[in-house]
Amino acid sequence: MRTGPDLFNIGVRQPSADWQYGHLFQPRAYVKESIMPSYPYLFEIKDKADKDEVEVHLPPDAQPKGKVVVAKPEAIDLVKYLQSLKRNYPVLPEEPQ
Ligand code: HEM
Repeated sequence: MRTGPDLFNIGVRQPSADWQYGHLFQPRAYVKESIMPSYPYLFEIKDKADKDEVEVHLPPDAQPKGKVVVAKPEAIDLVKYLQSLKRNYPVLPEEPQ
């Protein structure tokens, strides 16, 4: 059973990496009544991000107080994959653009 939207062209519809990270960390920070589970194990909550780490920019309500949320390599890979789902090309040569 499908419970979420089709992600076929999510890379076009929602290209923002910040949005994707934040939505995976806490879907309800973006969609109040969302039934999508959060994926906290894709992130690390730390006092401070290291120079080479990807810090997630969350809406103020979802931001852990006095801490930063850092994307783990698995989150970075997943968001790159989601951004790559563009389907902005025709499947068949004769398909109208
Ligand atoms: C790793 C697994 C998952 C990924 C990568 C993922 C990714 C996404 C993305 C990118 C969106 C935004 C879609 C849009 O704007 O059209 C979305 C929305 C949504 N997803 Fe997921 N999802 C996952 C798992 C789930 C699961 C397990 C459920 C349901 C139990 C679910 C339910 C939903 C729903 C209902 C939405 C609509 C927006 C919202 O409520 O936040 N997702 N998901």
